[in-house]
Amino acid sequence: VPEIGCLSIIVLGASGDLAKKKTFPALFHLYCQGFLPPNEVHIFGYARTKISDDELRNRIRGYLVSERSASPSKDVSKFLQLIKYVSGSYDAAEGFQMLDKEISKHETSKNSLEGSSRRLFYLALPPSVYPSVCRMIRRYSMNKSNLGGWTRIVVEKPFGRDLGSAEELSSQIGELFDEPQIYRIDHYLGKELVQNLLVLRFANRFFLPLWNRDNIDNVQIVFREDFGTEGRGGYFDEYGIIRDIIQNHLLQVLCLVAMEKPVSLKPEHIRDEKVKVLQSVLPIKDEEVVLGQYEGYRDDPTVPDHSNTPTFATVVLRIHNERWEGVPFILKAGKALNSRKAEIRVQFKDVPGDIFKCKKQGRNEFVIRLQPSEAMYMKLMVKQPGLEMSTVQSELDLSYRQRYQGVTIPEAYERLILDTIRGDQQHFVRRDELKAAWEIFTPLLHRIDNGEMKPIPYQAGSRGPAEADELLEKAGYVQTHGY
Ligand code: BG6
Repeated sequence: VPEIGCLSIIVLGASGDLAKKKTFPALFHLYCQGFLPPNEVHIFGYARTKISDDELRNRIRGYLVSERSASPSKDVSKFLQLIKYVSGSYDAAEGFQMLDKEISKHETSKNSLEGSSRRLFYLALPPSVYPSVCRMIRRYSMNKSNLGGWTRIVVEKPFGRDLGSAEELSSQIGELFDEPQIYRIDHYLGKELVQNLLVLRFANRFFLPLWNRDNIDNVQIVFREDFGTEGRGGYFDEYGIIRDIIQNHLLQVLCLVAMEKPVSLKPEHIRDEKVKVLQSVLPIKDEEVVLGQYEGYRDDPTVPDHSNTPTFATVVLRIHNERWEGVPFILKAGKALNSRKAEIRVQFKDVPGDIFKCKKQGRNEFVIRLQPSEAMYMKLMVKQPGLEMSTVQSELDLSYRQRYQGVTIPEAYERLILDTIRGDQQHFVRRDELKAAWEIFTPLLHRIDNGEMKPIPYQAGSRGPAEADELLEKAGYVQTHGY
């Protein structure tokens, strides 16, 4: 049943980077596609800086139209008119009372719909202020309408630094809002090919019998960026690559690759299965970890001279259950490498009784490229065309750009914000999921923080430390050729 009534979207931290680069552009694209009808929706920016409505609009204007989006620039001005700005602090009543007044004004003016009040608070803010902001919203700005409606809170990582701090943050927010009101964003869950994983696995007969330890030798989930921490050194140094990418983005992908079939597509059923995977991960062994730090990282003035923070890590996770016992899941992430890519590589075991003696040419491998240029391809052996009976490795290739020409793939944030409006928590991280994810990495993170494990230097623009390739090989990965 479509909900009616006013929808107020409140972006807290409106003048910050995340809001400018991700939140407002995502809202703009939703607006252009008709998901934010102007007779129902109003957008509020909230931050400490004292600026006017127009100043905020001018700050975000330049970020709204991207090359990738189909949204026409002529709609920019109309969209910007929906935005109102309120300034105030993050821990005092005054600003939030003012915000409440502004939202109520808008709700009254649009009351012709006689609907309920829907208030979506998007915290584009550092987590240190989450508890106080949530307290203020709860006291002063949440929906109090007796016609129904809702209040929802969207938060971004980092949710804490380790198990203890994450649990503390969860309890503080949990005392103020119920779990169905809290949307923890992991933007990887909004990516097209990540969302495709469930369909791929559970709607295709091909994969059902193969997706297990009998057939799969190893799984790699890889994130590479070809730029360093430019401009974000201060933030990054406090967190490092494991907290920034692996503990959240790559682990979420692992869950979708490894989970059992959920009872249904209900968010709770899906998240129940993801939690089970996380709870089945064995403690990480030191010898199955390689850390790296690119040369030049410490030249950033915001990074301490003796920083021990890894900008690269390869970690082998082992899932202790019937399906995956013995199959290494290799998670690898790095900054300042030789390419920008995120992909999943599922490598199959060798064919028993190899009459073609083609083992050396490579194994069957199924690759899902999340970005750039979304694609899925299967590496497989074929007869080399020609008179001789020889084999060669080739590909069955589904490249989205070719296959879905003219289809615009939505940005992750666009999709996830629409889910929050619709009340669908499937692609959001539940509290117990978050806890289980921190449980896996906290012992390793503490050892790194204490200086017991040190990153190996690597050249910026390289593949990362050679030790990572050795670890991969030890885990069973066989380098294949071609793509
Ligand atoms: C963010 C990290 O969560 O993801 C960044 O904090 C990283 O360090 C970014 O660059 C990568 O996102 P994407 O969508 O470009 O792969």
